[in-house]
Amino acid sequence: MVSSRFLSLFILSVASAAPFLTEGDLNSTAWTPDHVLQPHEVIVYGEGRMEVMHVDTYNALMASQDRLTDVPEVDESFLEFAHNDPPNVNITESDLQARQFSCTATRAMATDKTYDFVGWDIQMSRVAQAGITPIDITIRNGYTTSNTVQVSGNTDVNWIKDTLKTTFGVNYSRQWTTSIDISIKATVSPHYTGVMITKPLKTRRLGRVLQGCPGSFKQVGTFQADSHKVGSYGKIDWVAGAIAICQKKQYPLTFCNGNGQFI
Ligand SMILES: *[C@@H]1O[C@H](CO)[C@@H](O)[C@H](O)[C@H]1NC(C)=O
Ligand SMILES: *[C@@H]1O[C@H](CO)[C@@H](O)[C@H](O)[C@H]1NC(C)=O
Ligand SMILES: *[C@@H]1O[C@H](CO)[C@@H](O)[C@H](O)[C@H]1NC(C)=O
Repeated sequence: MVSSRFLSLFILSVASAAPFLTEGDLNSTAWTPDHVLQPHEVIVYGEGRMEVMHVDTYNALMASQDRLTDVPEVDESFLEFAHNDPPNVNITESDLQARQFSCTATRAMATDKTYDFVGWDIQMSRVAQAGITPIDITIRNGYTTSNTVQVSGNTDVNWIKDTLKTTFGVNYSRQWTTSIDISIKATVSPHYTGVMITKPLKTRRLGRVLQGCPGSFKQVGTFQADSHKVGSYGKIDWVAGAIAICQKKQYPLTFCNGNGQFI
């Protein structure tokens, strides 16, 4: 059964879904507590609803949007901004003195690039090894994920966070922790090692911090800020994205998306 209200909201919230994808194509069903998530399925989570759909459909939906299916490559040269960059302004000594009195503490932020992407796997259950029969796993308490801000140069991370909050309405100190208020079951295929994960919808902003007088700003630092889209379901507070199974025929189990190993 397709629940159109959720799907409309979902499509709106992820924006610019391709015209060739209709709600019928999504072929999703409302998640129920007795559903055992299969390796070929994902649970799409957010907007107060949870829907189960085929992983191929979900991937097609992701591909139809302006969203990278992987984390954007880190621009090291941008982040390794050093203090010895020449000032990009033409100032005289008298200007400088005036500036020291009036504008030394005047800071501004410029956001240069924004990427929407699917972040690295977030672990939600223990790692399970299935023998000759499938094995069930459930969400466990205490796995966390958070928004992050990385800075370089002479930059106050709290000022960056405050300014980003004012500009984009995002709390960059926010952290989420899995809870078992809602128990989602999933299954790992025979002979596989598997784990339940979230494939989070994230946004990365790259920008610069400028200091000086309006009209003669000098760059003093750069930042990279990563945030999650917020998901919700009833009383549950979690990040938006898809809940899926990552399984491989290997132990220890490494991430299906990202560099890392499940614990
Ligand atoms: C929709 O999902 C059902 C159940 O998973 C499946 O049997 C059916 O083939 C799917 N239909 C399409 C058009 O993908
Ligand atoms: C700097 O300012 C001086 C005096 O206003 C001017 O002659 C000079 O061309 C300027 N230099 C640059 C690089 O803009
Ligand atoms: C931001 O998130 C942190 C951690 O979850 C919380 O303590 C803080 O109150 C939040 N700040 C705002 C302004 O919502």
